[in-house]
Amino acid sequence: MYLTPKEERMHDGEYGWAYQVSMRILTRLGDLFGATKLIPIQSTHISGVSYKTIGDASIDFLDAIASAGGKVKVPSTLNPSCLDQDHLSQMKIPQDYREKQLHIIDLYRRMRINLTFTCTPYYLREPRPGGHLAWAESSAVAYANSVLGAWTNREGSPSALASALIGKTPNYGVHQVENREASILVKVWGNLRNEAEFGALGICAGKLLKDKIPFFEGLSNCTSEDLKQLGAGLASSGMASIFYYHKPYEKRGLETISIEAKDIENIIESLSTASEAPDLIFIGCPHCSLNEIKSVAQYLDGKKVREDTKLWICTSRHVKKKAKKYVGIIEGAGGYVLCDTCAIVTWIKELGIGNMMTNSAKAAYYAPTLNQVNATLAPLSKCVDMVCRR
Ligand code: F3S
Repeated sequence: MYLTPKEERMHDGEYGWAYQVSMRILTRLGDLFGATKLIPIQSTHISGVSYKTIGDASIDFLDAIASAGGKVKVPSTLNPSCLDQDHLSQMKIPQDYREKQLHIIDLYRRMRINLTFTCTPYYLREPRPGGHLAWAESSAVAYANSVLGAWTNREGSPSALASALIGKTPNYGVHQVENREASILVKVWGNLRNEAEFGALGICAGKLLKDKIPFFEGLSNCTSEDLKQLGAGLASSGMASIFYYHKPYEKRGLETISIEAKDIENIIESLSTASEAPDLIFIGCPHCSLNEIKSVAQYLDGKKVREDTKLWICTSRHVKKKAKKYVGIIEGAGGYVLCDTCAIVTWIKELGIGNMMTNSAKAAYYAPTLNQVNATLAPLSKCVDMVCRR
């Protein structure tokens, strides 16, 4: 891969170890995928924040980068952590885990990363269409490429952090126009009725397509939140980082598959592993938009959350601040609006949760393995019905 003279000097260690190791990560990746150069990026979004998901080994790496003086060169945001410091009584996190999480946060702070702790950074600031990014968090990558028209590969935490320090990313994958074309036509039969079905479509397609780029035909009247669920599901069960849903495509010659209402029903059934009533209703995977919080508040208005069931609505601090009125209604009904975390990247089994109900196919997909908790996938209206006192 071609490096400019300055990049060569970084690679050789002239700018210090943090930049040298970052440059080495990027060149190794570029060489592996056939990139010929590095290109400037607008922003990075970094995953690998929750102590629950990254463990001790990654702390040493982050510590080394921060101690070597590594600082980000472009606006950089962070994925959720394992705690909401305003709701510690709602969570059961041992003191030493809490201290480790705070240490991780402090390391990112020293690198001058914006402590956003959200998987929907696009609600804070939308990337420009056509702008190159280096984002980790697969659901945000799918949304940025497919709904917002930005250009980002699906980065891992080390490569997103390396790109943050260098301000560039290797030019391969969906950074190149020829790699952004749809490669398969997915005919969706039957109207999808809610966000849970959009997420289930994503899980279904992800399993079938792996890394092929789909053009979904037959999606009508979908909201941006439906598309967020579709992308999150697609990226959970497959490797796609981009999908199309409305652009007229030259369909001739494209491999074609069909997904029918029955396939979506089967996916919902297979993701619904719980046989008992839920102890936790979790809304906000990926983190809620203002509209989604408004919908929860409208459904909950005048009702009360059952005493034997928890209601967690997860979002960013940015959105929560804008949703004050709705947050008041949700909290008045007995629910919690949590920030900086989610039910998947924190410990919930330790809270006595055995069964979770959620409107997110992604959360239902991961809960049994990452949290050892059974799931039920259902739309928001059903989730709220279930959590309210009868
Ligand atoms: Fe976000 Fe947690 Fe889901 S990080 S995408 S809410 S698993």
